[in-house]
Amino acid sequence: MFLRKLEVRDFRNYEQVTLETDAPVNIFVGNNAQGKTNLLEAIYMLALTRSHRAGKDVEMIRWQQQMASIFAQVDKQYGSCDFGLMIAKQGKTAKLNGLVQSRLSEYVGQLNVVLFAPEDLELVKGSPGVRRRFLDIEIGQIQNSYLYHLAQYKRALAQKNKYLQTVYNTAVKHDEMLSLWNEQIAQHAVKLIVKRVSYLRKLSDWATKIHAGITNGEESLAIRYQASLELAEDSDETVLISDYMLKLESMQEKELRRGNALVGPHRDDLLFFINEKEVQTYGSQGQQRTTALSLKLAEIELIKEVVGEYPLLLLDDVLSELDEIRQTHLINTFQDKVQTFITTTSTESIDMKKVKNAASFHVRQGKISRGG
Ligand SMILES: Nc1ncnc2c1ncn2[C@@H]1O[C@H](COP(=O)(O)OP(=O)(O)OP(=O)(O)O)[C@@H](O)[C@H]1O
Ligand SMILES: [Mg+2]
Repeated sequence: MFLRKLEVRDFRNYEQVTLETDAPVNIFVGNNAQGKTNLLEAIYMLALTRSHRAGKDVEMIRWQQQMASIFAQVDKQYGSCDFGLMIAKQGKTAKLNGLVQSRLSEYVGQLNVVLFAPEDLELVKGSPGVRRRFLDIEIGQIQNSYLYHLAQYKRALAQKNKYLQTVYNTAVKHDEMLSLWNEQIAQHAVKLIVKRVSYLRKLSDWATKIHAGITNGEESLAIRYQASLELAEDSDETVLISDYMLKLESMQEKELRRGNALVGPHRDDLLFFINEKEVQTYGSQGQQRTTALSLKLAEIELIKEVVGEYPLLLLDDVLSELDEIRQTHLINTFQDKVQTFITTTSTESIDMKKVKNAASFHVRQGKISRGG
């Protein structure tokens, strides 16, 4: 995928910016708080309809304004595509080739991006919620049905939790209600877990290879899905669902006592191992960094494998943070194949000799100008 033109209006600190991005590598240089991350956020949001920074959509709208919008012209394998996202206080609308998309979940995935930012270290050392979010976003952008099951799962889970809370507060119980929610939950939970496990298997294959490359074969990285409720060993989905239901029911008493749904994909996690030792617990800072980098590079390759073309790569302030070996690995990954958008406060810490075909831009107070 190749982004030719980007237009941003009333988005964060940008009033109006139109950029021709015809270079394979685009470097945005500017001091702190000028709008570098905001620009990458706009591209990210156009692709995934939500920001990578937690928060509300209305925060994207430039202060005192009513609506933010982002447009891009992107060359894809089979032709050029126009993407548009309008963010108003009442909600957001996506457009593909000028047509309003009735479901955002079906729009997501037509434009693929991989973002790498310093906070991605949290992927390894942060709370399980960070890793679930990663899985949900990344699987969602290559498989629409995942987002559908996720939404259905969340809906059923919220209903079940509401019911459990009522029982907890009033001690009035209708067992059939719980079975009803569990049945719906099991159906979508099994879909989600199967998709997560299969995604992780592929991601892990790439990540292991890449990690071995970065560490000169000294470290072997493995990724495992940790389910709060194990799926049965069976390939038949009906069997998996009924087994999952039975397991959910065995938790019933405990859940009623606690007034909360205690198990399911919303409580699952993933674990990273280097040479069979858990990275979250035993990994050094450097190993955690390399793991996060390997994951991101693996994502790029996996999107190419599944979608058939490379995503856009957004590097927010990370290149200059990496040592020479990791920087070289990252540059070699995108060079000549992945269109990349890099932000930095200074190009001094980037080995610019290694970066070919780059255009540079200056970012200052929400204005962007072409650099030398
Ligand atoms: N909704 C908004 N409307 C107007 N300005 C905003 C809005 N949201 C954020 N900003 C401004 O955008 C600026 C931050 O921009 P951004 O995060 O892109 O900085 P940056 O160039 O990446 O800086 P750093 O190098 O520190 O990461 C802040 O100064 C903030 O005041
Ligand atoms: Mg920033």
